[in-house]
Amino acid sequence: MPINNQAGERDKTRVPRHIAIILDGNGRWAKKRGLPRTAGHAVGAETFRKIATYCRDIGVDYLTVYAFSTENWKRPEGEVSTIMKLLRKYLQEAIDTMERDHIRMKVLGELEGLSPELREMVSRTDEISQRYAGFQANICLNYGGRDEILHAARRYAKDYAAGKADDSLTEEGFGSYLYSAGIPDPDLLIRPGGEQRISNFLLWQCAYAEFYFTDVLWPDFGPKELDRAIEVFNSRDRRYGGVK
Ligand code: IPE
Ligand code: IPE
Ligand code: MG
Repeated sequence: MPINNQAGERDKTRVPRHIAIILDGNGRWAKKRGLPRTAGHAVGAETFRKIATYCRDIGVDYLTVYAFSTENWKRPEGEVSTIMKLLRKYLQEAIDTMERDHIRMKVLGELEGLSPELREMVSRTDEISQRYAGFQANICLNYGGRDEILHAARRYAKDYAAGKADDSLTEEGFGSYLYSAGIPDPDLLIRPGGEQRISNFLLWQCAYAEFYFTDVLWPDFGPKELDRAIEVFNSRDRRYGGVK
């Protein structure tokens, strides 16, 4: 079903406000072509750029991608350092284009575990983002859902001990301690790459997200795949525990 109406305008009611994607399958994509896994990560970074632009163009408000998990440090050192190098390159290019395209970008995750250069780029993207409204891309880096919840609980406990918070904590209040503070929950979670698991991504925020899994590997994922995921999303009946 088209997400643009006949006048060529986006149909806001058919586009999820917030799409989250687990960027998976880069390594297998490269292996299939006899290339090193790292070649898959380089193509995957380009795919992210294209999908982010597409999301903005069709009227998605937030796109959140899982780029590096708290568990991904277990990978061989060479692969981890290539991913970090790609992220630095990507963030640098993003900083250069954010002002031109008025894109907001936020990095979510345990930032203290990142290199000083990456942390510096993260503050720069935060600073530029404050100037704009509209589409926001969130990149989860050194991110783990459990780590995020634990981190939030520790911050709340600190505020409580300092008398800055009382014991009437609500779900909404707790949400403001998460890395995703201020960002609405994802409506649609997409996982390419064939695995059907959440791998520690947005555990709190995906309570009522619709899940869409596809065997397409992330470097091969294009606008057509995204349209298909949105079409499936639109066929779902979101009941939130109620009845229709
Ligand atoms: C996702 O692709 C990228 C990261 C986790 C950094 P993978 O590297 O997990 O690719 P596969 O799953 O091995 O194919
Ligand atoms: C999930 O992919 C993490 C990211 C995409 C950043 P993984 O490839 O690390 O997940 P598992 O190991 O298949 O669960
Ligand atoms: Mg994987």
